[in-house]
Amino acid sequence: MNLESVRKELLDRAKKADNPREVLRSKKLKELYKVLPTLTAAERPEYGQKLNALKKELEELIKVLEAEKLNETVTLIDITAPWAPNTPVNERPALLTMDHGSRHPLMTELERVVRIYNLMGFAAIESRQLDDDFHMFETLNFPPNHPARDSYDSFKTQEGFVPPAHTSTMQYRILQNGKKELEAGGQIAVVSYGRVFRNEDLDAVHEHTFYQCEGVFVSSDATLGQMIAVLREFFEAYYEQKLRIKTQPAYFPFVEPGLEFLIEKPASLGGKGWLEMLGCGMIHPNVLKMAGIDPNKYRGFAWGGGIERLVMLKYGINDIRYFESGKLRFLKEFK
Ligand code: DAH
Repeated sequence: MNLESVRKELLDRAKKADNPREVLRSKKLKELYKVLPTLTAAERPEYGQKLNALKKELEELIKVLEAEKLNETVTLIDITAPWAPNTPVNERPALLTMDHGSRHPLMTELERVVRIYNLMGFAAIESRQLDDDFHMFETLNFPPNHPARDSYDSFKTQEGFVPPAHTSTMQYRILQNGKKELEAGGQIAVVSYGRVFRNEDLDAVHEHTFYQCEGVFVSSDATLGQMIAVLREFFEAYYEQKLRIKTQPAYFPFVEPGLEFLIEKPASLGGKGWLEMLGCGMIHPNVLKMAGIDPNKYRGFAWGGGIERLVMLKYGINDIRYFESGKLRFLKEFK
């Protein structure tokens, strides 16, 4: 047997094999060893050396080949890809097409909320996501160091701006913008919706980031009765059914009187008991005055509350943290 031609063959085989190490156990190699005892004492050392050299050469080659294979596999398998490794490009499923993604349920519901108010004659503006102490507190009749400021603990930028803790931060702007209309004999009827932020310990009903919707109505003769009618109308439209409602006293510096608005949990939404849905009241004279509206001529009411709470009741969601979690299993339920 020609050692040189077998050498070439074995090296070649190793290069082509899925598992190059198999060559070391091949019949061909074993046959080369079987030749040894048949040789004369003079021939043996040279042949033996050549054979050892070949084995060494094969082992080195195998090491290189195995390392290459390892790299190849690493690049070939993308564990994040939703197709099997080595699927040709033109046979891979498309990624992130419209029918894979879906709208966030909060956006769908927020749009619904705003639409109901639109149909009732309210204009809508988005609330700011960065504001200042003046709008979030001062214009709302919170003097500096007022204890009620504690319930609206938000964050602060180095420059002193605040991601607002409530959409009431828009009231001053709404009032100022509507002043002309009011003086021309009209009314102010605006809702403001958007993200709000609180420095809060998180649990099933508390998030640091959530959504609110705020309403402001001012006219020459607005009443608490009108406010309750507007809110009842809203909730009955949103839940598409008649509801039992009630109010109870509450304190907010920017309204007087201040109330909490409650609805009775309808049986169709799984239950019993009263749920606080929002805060509301007649706009405090100081708030009107600050915005340049004469509280002796005009009266207003305002309300504000969380959107997540509405949606949680509607769909029986038991943890507010799902909304910001980005969990696909949750989001897919709303496709
Ligand atoms: N801003 C209050 C909060 O986030 C809710 C609120 C209460 C808004 C009374 C109002 C209101 O407009 O009149 O807790």
